[in-house]
Amino acid sequence: MNFNQAINIEDLHRIAKRKLPKIIFDYIEGGVEDERGLARNEAAFHKHRLLPRYLVDVSKRDQSATVFGRTYASPFGISPTGGVGLYRREGEIMLAQAAAAANIPYIMSGGSNASIEEALRVAPNNVWFQLYAAKDANVTDALIGRARDAGAGALVLTVDVPVHPKRERNYRNGFARIRRGGVMESLKLKPSILLEAITHPAWVAEYVRLGGAPTLGNWAPHAGNGASTEDVIAFGRGQTPAAAQTWRDLERYRRLFPRALIVKGILNPADAVRAAEIGVDGVIVSNHGGRQLDQAPASLEALPAIKAAVGDKLTVMLDSGVRRGADILIAFCLGAQFVFFGRPTLYGAVAGGLPGVNKVIDIFRGEIDLVMGQIGCPRLSELGPDFLWRDDWTQNR
Ligand code: FNR
Repeated sequence: MNFNQAINIEDLHRIAKRKLPKIIFDYIEGGVEDERGLARNEAAFHKHRLLPRYLVDVSKRDQSATVFGRTYASPFGISPTGGVGLYRREGEIMLAQAAAAANIPYIMSGGSNASIEEALRVAPNNVWFQLYAAKDANVTDALIGRARDAGAGALVLTVDVPVHPKRERNYRNGFARIRRGGVMESLKLKPSILLEAITHPAWVAEYVRLGGAPTLGNWAPHAGNGASTEDVIAFGRGQTPAAAQTWRDLERYRRLFPRALIVKGILNPADAVRAAEIGVDGVIVSNHGGRQLDQAPASLEALPAIKAAVGDKLTVMLDSGVRRGADILIAFCLGAQFVFFGRPTLYGAVAGGLPGVNKVIDIFRGEIDLVMGQIGCPRLSELGPDFLWRDDWTQNR
């Protein structure tokens, strides 16, 4: 199947799996330890049922959503994913271009191969910057300064990587983590990897033609003059994770970044309340796609308590496990004001480059539109618990 023929995200998932060597695909796909959290994310959406209302005028349906003073054409954006250039060369630039064309936000990972400046050049109004703080506070502040000066629409601090996780697929595949930690993980050649290379000649030819692993564009300017790609990768590894980072640091970031400041990876309502007190503008309720703490709740499970705790004090958003337009509507029913997804955009980029990412956005957009029509909801602002089936059925209205 060609990516053009894909009718849902699962089709693109299958194409991406075919195209990539297992070691790379597993890096995208995998979760931590037993991958229970990963499974829990999608299962959390499947537990919910939407309860339709009929005889409502749904001839016009509006899925636009406004956050931080900007109206986006759809209620979703692209989660930050590091090292996209390894899966698809120029992948981050494609994600930025697709986001601009669709008028949705793209959160560019601090661990990207392209730089924030390059992404903002192709999508000046649609790129937010995700920060992994460095151990050296001067480097962190310099990264924030670059995001600010280049015009990133928001700064997204990811807080759920205080240590590096035990992703067992990567261990088994030899995509082993360097002990000192790092943004990228290093390849160790094993016979099984060579076999994968032989069976995926297109990916390997491109990798070799372009001189091996791509650099990390956000770390590169801080790694010293004349740093090679290996030096830059080692520098990024050495600077992360910033395990000593605390709320005091977040207060400093607040002072440094004048536009929307968002904390990603919040699961505990008390943390959301604390973020609001510091003047943070939004949180992304997330368990990092099941990649950090296997015993963490699904983001969707954690959402209602967080919304109840912060109310309208900050913008509550969510990612992890979203694979259908209906999932986004379910999250809105439970209090989300915006939703992100990560892996689906990588499937699109791998399967079809920029048109593949456009396809992902079209699929979600089309599904949202149809489900809004089907449940009798012409505007997202109408979504709430009344659209969700309750098992104590007498409570359903
Ligand atoms: C991620 N994620 C991530 N998050 C982040 O804040 N910075 C990063 O650099 C990365 N890198 C990354 C790489 C890959 C390959 C994946 C799959 C994920 C987590 C990401 O932002 C998001 O939280 C999850 O992807 C959401 O789950 P779904 O949509 O993939 O189920």
